[in-house]
Amino acid sequence: MTSSVTAPARDRLRIAIQKSGRLADPARSLLASCGLSWRESRDRLFCFGETLPVDLLLVRDDDIPGLIADGVCDLGVVGRNVLTETGLARGASGGAPVFREWRSLGFGQCRLAVAVPDSWQWTGAEQLSGKRIATSYPGLLRQWLEAQGVDAEIVLLSGSVEIAPRLGQADAICDLVSSGATLAANQLKPVETILESEAVLAGPIAEFDPVRAGLAELLMRRLEGALRVRKSKLLMFQANRDALPRVMPLLPDAETPTVMRLDEGDSLALQALCHGAVTWQRLEELKRAGARGLMVLPIEGMLA
Ligand code: PRP
Ligand code: ZN
Repeated sequence: MTSSVTAPARDRLRIAIQKSGRLADPARSLLASCGLSWRESRDRLFCFGETLPVDLLLVRDDDIPGLIADGVCDLGVVGRNVLTETGLARGASGGAPVFREWRSLGFGQCRLAVAVPDSWQWTGAEQLSGKRIATSYPGLLRQWLEAQGVDAEIVLLSGSVEIAPRLGQADAICDLVSSGATLAANQLKPVETILESEAVLAGPIAEFDPVRAGLAELLMRRLEGALRVRKSKLLMFQANRDALPRVMPLLPDAETPTVMRLDEGDSLALQALCHGAVTWQRLEELKRAGARGLMVLPIEGMLA
């Protein structure tokens, strides 16, 4: 007699995040700002959700797409670079797409770039023809080379890609660039961008069962709010009425400001919710345009 075993529908949502590395802390703090909190297991690999049935699994970032594909985790916070590369690799070996980017998360910005020795005079992609390029992203690099019509040899390395040219293993590299410090330290310069990347929320293409679908929807709504609040600032300042035509256009992506009249003269007090970046440079421009006593306040929460 045979018995068929079906996995029980899970009534908790499980999110994979990087255990340590660039995305680890910001991923956790973003999820915490969605009102999630956890009790950590002793081995520090599993965090049990306390406020909501949403648990975390702490893993290597490269494993996250596979964990979603296998249904071990429901969602993951991972770099677009890793997600796209894994998707291409699975496609190349005949697998149907099972995961996708649900939304970008606004941190961990970097780019996948081709870099060549400082001494090269860069004239264009055709310069790579017949050359060896070291990378941990063979799928993305191959796709780009094909689009450029360039025939080059891809040297697959799992780490320390940036030293390959000095070791004579390759002529150029294709790797992630964030600050650019790693390239500079290895006398390399970025010449072509293959992919703009940042942290994304990854999830399955297929639909969840109703319980997890509900949890995922709740999480997505809170993420939306949390990400909006993150960027937004309350800008408070004073200005004379006649300065407003110059000041107003400088408010970065602002909602209609609240304007209060002060007792003396023509002076107004304003407060504006700004969704765009309130940089030092912008504050200086506002001051030159006639804004006084500028104050930038973070937003704790927002419910439209
Ligand atoms: C990337 C990349 C470089 C470094 C570049 O690795 O492989 O080593 O970051 O950053 P920089 O331009 O600021 O110097 P990362 O630390 O993201 O780890 P991983 O790709 O091995 O997961
Ligand atoms: Zn990694």
